[in-house]
Amino acid sequence: MLCKEMEQALNDQIKWELWSGYMYLSMSAYFDDQGLSGFAQWMKNQAAEELFHATKFFDYVNEAGGRVKLQTVEEPPHEWESALDVFKEGLKHERKVTSMINDLVDLAIKHKDHATNNFLQWFVGEQVEEEASFDELVGKLKLVGDGGALYMLDKELGARVFTWPAEKE
Ligand code: FEO
Repeated sequence: MLCKEMEQALNDQIKWELWSGYMYLSMSAYFDDQGLSGFAQWMKNQAAEELFHATKFFDYVNEAGGRVKLQTVEEPPHEWESALDVFKEGLKHERKVTSMINDLVDLAIKHKDHATNNFLQWFVGEQVEEEASFDELVGKLKLVGDGGALYMLDKELGARVFTWPAEKE
């Protein structure tokens, strides 16, 4: 059974995962407008991954005897200066999410909530991957600049697919 403070914190995190997806969809729309369909596709997949994260929290709160209360998801930004600017913001955001996950782990430890701590460890690992994928693309975008190589990178990113995991991990 979740204590009220943990339940509230997990509900807040559902909102932030959904907001992350909302922001990445907005980034996808920006790229589509720029004619960069591969980048747009990559971001749409990233948004789908965030919806999966939100659903994982949603299912856990229900299973752990808590009550899910969905919150208002704020409007995301719409404009960026360049592809590099977008991925820098994505990296900054993922670092913020990592710190939110770490705070949730601290709270679970404070309440001796071993089940929630165990559940959160999946996200601890996931955030390492999330930061790494944005970090890698920031590095690549710094290398390619705005020239023809951006077109090549666009093709590479267009190959990303997201498959909703079939079973619980
Ligand atoms: Fe759900 Fe990108 O962290």
